[in-house]
Amino acid sequence: MADNPDLVRRQASEKDTLLEPLLGFVPRQVKGEQVRKALDHQMNPFTKKFRTERYKELLKARQKLPVFAQLGEFLTMFRESQIIVMVGETGAGKTTQIPQFVAYFDLPHIEGKVVACTQPRRVAAMSAARRVAEEMDVELGREVGYSIRFEDMTEPGKTFLKYMTDGMLLREAMNDPNLERYSTIILDEAHERTLATDVLMGLLKDIAKRRADLKIIIMSATLDALKFQKYFGLTQDSAAPLFKVPGRTHPVEVFYTQEPEPDYVEAAIRTVLMIHRAEDPGDILVFLTGEEEIEDACKKIKLEADDLVNQDPDSVGPLVCIPLYSSLPPQQQQRIFDPAPSAISPSRPRGRKVVVSTNIAETSLTIDGIVYVVDPGFLKQKVYNPRIRVESLLVSPISKASAQQRAGRAGRTRPGKCFRLYTEKDFMGELEEQTYPEILRCNLSNTVLELLKLGIKDLVRFDFVDAPLQRR
Ligand code: CDP
Ligand code: MG
Repeated sequence: MADNPDLVRRQASEKDTLLEPLLGFVPRQVKGEQVRKALDHQMNPFTKKFRTERYKELLKARQKLPVFAQLGEFLTMFRESQIIVMVGETGAGKTTQIPQFVAYFDLPHIEGKVVACTQPRRVAAMSAARRVAEEMDVELGREVGYSIRFEDMTEPGKTFLKYMTDGMLLREAMNDPNLERYSTIILDEAHERTLATDVLMGLLKDIAKRRADLKIIIMSATLDALKFQKYFGLTQDSAAPLFKVPGRTHPVEVFYTQEPEPDYVEAAIRTVLMIHRAEDPGDILVFLTGEEEIEDACKKIKLEADDLVNQDPDSVGPLVCIPLYSSLPPQQQQRIFDPAPSAISPSRPRGRKVVVSTNIAETSLTIDGIVYVVDPGFLKQKVYNPRIRVESLLVSPISKASAQQRAGRAGRTRPGKCFRLYTEKDFMGELEEQTYPEILRCNLSNTVLELLKLGIKDLVRFDFVDAPLQRR
């Protein structure tokens, strides 16, 4: 029997399929069905190890994310276009899944290339990389890594999927103007319009003309898509194609205050306690503006909630209050994913988790299980006063787009409620439609130097999405 060449060949190829999940994959020709099969395969193609139980468990959860249903459609559009714009509800799976789809499509580990995904915030880059390494069943810092200022968690020659801050990619562009080592660059959270992302958009548009093999995805949570599509249209009146990820959100009931609140922190604390006492089970997300304010509010909420429990343990459950801001050590940031505390005894009411966060939780980090959002309507942002040439961080009102994002955080798992601590009249009349791009409200002297280092001397004609105003 062993003499039968057909049989030998068939056995050999069966063995190959059993051991090599990427058999028949041609870089950039990969189809959705092939990726699905490879994901279900018993072997991990990147480490050649058998897949673990944890991998299978996470895969099941991933397969329920909205982006997963569109895998094939996404790969088709991606194959046909050099640049695509992608929008979708927060929590749909853009940040964690799309870069993995791209990795199966580009096969950067075979091609000696890297797929990069940028984030405006260090926290988001680290948290996404950690999660994706776990989902892909690889060690963080090897096949999947991250690069942020002062910390390079990658292994040159080994890392093929890299999360990084937009600032780090900008620095790399200074040494490598064509960003040669990347096969695909994904700019995530483009709606945040950070200075670095805005400059990168200009650079990438330019590099794309020189490097036909470089693919680019602009990802955004809100609907400023048309602007990006037009900007990235490679000829005057063409637009980059749009890939829409439908949300899977539940209705959110929005409440306003009757009168403006004189002290928004105090009002936020009061609202949290009111929800804890009177509303059905479900976790709470509160938006405040900075570290001190957040730590302080957490302490006060905890004290008062403990009092409530002591007074009335039969109707008020235990509460944990977790702070979240960029400068918090990663280990502590992970606490936001802990489950709510359990009841003291089975007959007593269930516990509740409260996360008090800066704008990070608006789109960059998704916390499942949030049912109530408390939105005082402020954030800390950079503001530049050109008259006195001073740049400062100021607590400023959010935009309507931001308010909508924040409310949306309440409807991830079931219908939710959003308590806006301002009047409906102020919402309609006072808030800007969109958050102003950072490039229009900061001191540009460093950016000018950076652009010079990037070899861009004609700053006035640099193709910005929104060009800074000229000072007269
Ligand atoms: O980027 P987008 O907002 O579309 O979603 P994502 O960040 O890719 O997250 C998709 C889902 O993955 C979340 O809703 C969580 O269920 C899960 N996830 C998680 O459990 N832990 C993380 N560190 C990140 C995501
Ligand atoms: Mg995201």
